[in-house]
Amino acid sequence: MCGIIATVGRNRAIPVLLEGLHRLEYRGYDSAGLAVLDGGRLVLHRKVGRVRELEAQVPAEQPGTVGIAHTRWATHGGVTEANAHPHLDTTGRIAVVHNGIIENMSALRARLEGEGVRFRSETDSEILAHLIGRYYFAEDGSETAGRPVAAVRAALRVVRGTWGIAALFADHPELIVAARNGSPLVIGLGEGQSYLASDSHALVPYTRRVVFLDDGEVARIDASGVQTWHSDGAQVDNAIETLEEVWGDGDKGRYPHLMLKEIHEQPEALSRCLSGRVVSETGTARLGGLDLSPRDLARISRVGLLGCGTAYHACRVGAQLIEAATRVPAKAEIASEFRHRNPVVDPDALFFAVSQSGETADTLGAVKEIQIKGGEVMGVVNVVGSSIARACGRGVYIHSGPEMSVASTKAFSNMVAALAVFTLMLARQRGLSVHDGRAYIQQLLDVPSRVAAYLDEPGPIDELVSWVTAPTTNMVLFLGRGLSAPVAAEGALKLMEVAYIPCIAYPAGEMKHGPIALLEEGSPVIVIAPRDALQDKTLSNLQECKARGARVALIHTAGDPVGRYADLSIPVPDTHPFFSPLLTVLPLQLLAYRAGLALGRDIDRPRNLAKSVTVE
Ligand code: G6P
Repeated sequence: MCGIIATVGRNRAIPVLLEGLHRLEYRGYDSAGLAVLDGGRLVLHRKVGRVRELEAQVPAEQPGTVGIAHTRWATHGGVTEANAHPHLDTTGRIAVVHNGIIENMSALRARLEGEGVRFRSETDSEILAHLIGRYYFAEDGSETAGRPVAAVRAALRVVRGTWGIAALFADHPELIVAARNGSPLVIGLGEGQSYLASDSHALVPYTRRVVFLDDGEVARIDASGVQTWHSDGAQVDNAIETLEEVWGDGDKGRYPHLMLKEIHEQPEALSRCLSGRVVSETGTARLGGLDLSPRDLARISRVGLLGCGTAYHACRVGAQLIEAATRVPAKAEIASEFRHRNPVVDPDALFFAVSQSGETADTLGAVKEIQIKGGEVMGVVNVVGSSIARACGRGVYIHSGPEMSVASTKAFSNMVAALAVFTLMLARQRGLSVHDGRAYIQQLLDVPSRVAAYLDEPGPIDELVSWVTAPTTNMVLFLGRGLSAPVAAEGALKLMEVAYIPCIAYPAGEMKHGPIALLEEGSPVIVIAPRDALQDKTLSNLQECKARGARVALIHTAGDPVGRYADLSIPVPDTHPFFSPLLTVLPLQLLAYRAGLALGRDIDRPRNLAKSVTVE
C-alpha cells in the first residue's frame, strides 16, 4: 500500500528517492510522485503507473539534496496524476506526502474551501498540505508562523484519523518534518545524510541505524539526525536501534517471478522457522520471544488468533492444531471483525496477532483493542520491528525472509509452522509425553524436505490450469474439511488474487447447503483430502460433486489409492495429519501462479491489491 521515502543531507536526493520508491513497489500502488527542493523552489513530478515511468520523467541530473516521495494506493479519489502525492499547499511552498486516512475529511475540506482554498485533488491528503500551510503562513506573531514543526503539530491537532507524513518546506532546505499516528515511519541515520521511510526495507541500502517513530510523535529530520516531540510538545528521547534483519533486495534470482521464487523458498524458510526452536532431547519447544514460563502456560484459558487474508487462514490452521493437541479452546477470527464487535477479552486468554508485514491496520487495531481490555497479545510476524511486533512487545518472528510478491506463499507456511511450534510447547505443558513430543518434532522437522520433494515433482498442475482457465469456467469450487478447510480457502484466495478467477471455498460438508447449486457439467472442483480422520467424509462430498457432472481434482497423500475417485489426482508427500496443510497448500500455490501466467496477469503485483494493507 502507500509508501513514503524521504531524504536530507549532502547527497543528491533524486537517486535515493527513486531507489526507495522501487524498494517500496512490492507493497502495491497505482501512482507515484516526488518533490525536491532545487535552489529554493519545489519541483514536483508525479505519474500514474509504475515507478519506472516516473523515473523516465525526472531529469537525470535534477539537483536538490532534500526531497520526499510516495507510492499511492488509491483510497479517496481515483487513480489520477492530480491525486498522486506529493500535494502542495496554496502557495506551492510546502509539499506533503501522506499514508493513512483523514476521517474528518469532509468537515475540514468544507472549512478550508470556505476560507478560499482551492483544492487540486480529490484526496484527503491534500487537506494536510493546506492545513500545514495555514499555520506556517499564519500572521506574524502567531506561534506557528515560519516554524515547520509547530505548524505540522498545529495542523495535526485538528485532524482525526491515521497518518504517516513527510513535509518539505521551500523556506527550510535543511530539514524534513515527519509525523506518525497509526501509519509506520522509520528514520534512518547515515553519515551527513538522513532518511525517512514507511518501511525499513527502503533504508537498507543506506543505513541500519534507525529510530522508529511512535504514534503521536512529530520529528524534525536534518543531515545530522533527528529530534522528536510528543503531540503535547514534550521532547522524546530517541532510542537508536539497529535493524537486525537485513532484507534482500527483492531479486528474482533464477525465477521469472518473485511469487515462484518465494514458493520455492519454502523448504529453506520452514527450516529457518524451526531451527533452534524445537528441542528433541526434551520433546518440547523454545520460543524465547514469548517469554512464557511453564506456569504462565498453565494459566492460559483459551487462545485467540487474529489476522487478515492469508494470515487469517494460517490462524484457522493454528487454532485447530492448538485445540486438537492441547485441549485448550482456540478460535481464529478475522481481525477486522474482532476489533469492531466489542469483543469480550478474557484476561487469562492468550491472543496471537498474525501478520506477515506486521503493518495490517485491522490486525494492529485488534492488538490495541485487546490491550485496552487488559488482554495479553503476542505477534506472529515476519517483518522485524514492524508496528504489530512493536505494539505487542512479545511474540514469534516467523523468519520467512522477505516476501515481496503481493500474494503470500512462504509466509503462510511459516505462520503455520510457528503456530505448530507453539502448539508443541503448550501441549507438553498440558500433558503430552516426552516420547510423543519427540515424535511430533521428528515429523515437523521432516516437513521441509517433503515440501522440497513435492516442488521438484509437482504433478499435473498444468492440466488443472487448463480447467480453471477454460473460457467455459466461470467459477472454481474448493472443498476441504478440518485442517483442509482453511487450505481450501487459501487456495481459492490465491487463485482469485493472482489469476482473477472467481472462486468459492467451502468446508466440504457445507457444500450441499448451497454451492452445490452452482455445479453443472464440467464445473471444476478442487478437493483437498489428505489421509486423516475426515477423509472418508470428504470423499463422499467429492462423489456428490461428480454426480452433478463436476470435474474433480483431488489433492491427496501420495500412495493413497483415493486418487482414482477423481478426474485428476495430485498426490503430495505424506506427513503427520497435523502438518498436512504445509503440503496440500503447495499445488494450490502453483496452480494460482501458473493460471495467472497463462492468463497474462501481473503475477507479483496483481491489480487493486496491496502487500501491506495499512488502511481499515
Ligand atoms: C493483503 C495481502 C495478503 C495478506 C493480507 C494480510 O491483503 O494482499 O497477501 O495475506 O494483506 O497481510 P499481513 O501482512 O497482515 O499478513
